[in-house]
Amino acid sequence: MIRATVNTPQRSYQAMIENGLLLRAGSILRDLLGERRKLFIVTVAPVRKKWGKKLQTSLTAAGFDSAFLEIRDGERFKRMATVEGLAEKMVGLGADRNATVLAFGGGIVGDLGGFLASIYMRGVDVVQIPTTVLAQVDASIGGKTGANLKAGKNLIGIFHQPRAVLIDPAVLSTLPEREFRAGLYEALKCGVIGKPQLFADLADVDVRKLRRDAGRLEYAIAESVRLKAEVVSADERENGLRRVLNFGHTIGHALEAETAYKHFLHGEAVAWGMIAAAQIAAEIGKLDGAAAQRIQQAVHNLGPLPEVAVRSKSILRRLQSDKKTRDGVVHFVLPTEVGKVEVVNDVPEAVVLRAVEALQA
Ligand SMILES: NC(=O)c1ccc[n+]([C@@H]2O[C@H](COP(=O)([O-])OP(=O)(O)OC[C@H]3O[C@@H](n4cnc5c(N)ncnc54)[C@H](O)[C@@H]3O)[C@@H](O)[C@H]2O)c1
Ligand SMILES: [Zn+2]
Repeated sequence: MIRATVNTPQRSYQAMIENGLLLRAGSILRDLLGERRKLFIVTVAPVRKKWGKKLQTSLTAAGFDSAFLEIRDGERFKRMATVEGLAEKMVGLGADRNATVLAFGGGIVGDLGGFLASIYMRGVDVVQIPTTVLAQVDASIGGKTGANLKAGKNLIGIFHQPRAVLIDPAVLSTLPEREFRAGLYEALKCGVIGKPQLFADLADVDVRKLRRDAGRLEYAIAESVRLKAEVVSADERENGLRRVLNFGHTIGHALEAETAYKHFLHGEAVAWGMIAAAQIAAEIGKLDGAAAQRIQQAVHNLGPLPEVAVRSKSILRRLQSDKKTRDGVVHFVLPTEVGKVEVVNDVPEAVVLRAVEALQA
């Protein structure tokens, strides 16, 4: 088993990565939780149908009493009302302060399950068991939880670090291919930020083959998890170092919002954002042209990507009003080489506009 430790002021915990880990979830949780025997598994129907039995069998064999709490699938149900509904169900099932929530699904389940755990009876434990690439390499680690408001995504929430993160890459076999690819862009992102070997491994990978290559997939996920664990351990609250994780996200978020979250999956928008960031970095002289091309080719190699059809001026406006923008200054995370990024806040508007226009070519 591969382990990565996450150290935060709130707590230290491990992310464990292994093919087939689901079958060992029961014994791992027994060691972790001791006498606390009641588990509440927040999940969605597709995950429960495909993997629920495996998980529950392992939990039951280890002496746990577990119940599934199913929520409706989709970003539009990532709302406070869903969290409230879950809490009502838990009360009905007799959950007390010793209850443990298992968040068993993609990033939506992870964010809602974590949020639920953070406020249920003023806080109970959560264990993240992510089942999408995106959730395994990114969302399950670092303790960010929350829900959407009408006005925007993730506008309510809190940091609530999990007791552990159990990552079984084998569950990705049932993920729709487009979701699989979209998550891989985040893994590639980790490579550019700080894992050049991971970047090299993903740069020319055949995605269909990777899906069937358990060892290589486990490696890619584990390296991404390590990167995220290292960054979060250095900076839990995203004031400094954690911002590097936003590589590709500045323009990515703007593209998602500009297309009303309907045209791109998150990872796909980030993929375009990375392409634009590489061009910006090259144009302002931070990155040599050949390295920029290598990054852009690696992104396209994981494609296909939905095309970009937006007005670049609208993207610029969105950048300037993003919640992460401070005092009207747009911060870009730009690569200076493969494996190294820097936060830059004085990119000329014209350079940004050109980079967005280049995406539509
Ligand atoms: N907390 C964080 O740090 C963080 C980071 C990044 C993203 N997020 C959040 O994550 C969410 C997106 O997560 P996501 O991309 O995982 O989407 P998701 O949770 O919607 O899952 C994608 C789809 O895959 C299905 N699915 C999940 N696992 C499956 C499996 N093993 N087999 C078959 N189908 C499966 C789901 O039912 C869903 O339809 C967003 O709400 C985003 O805000 C949070
Ligand atoms: Zn992301």
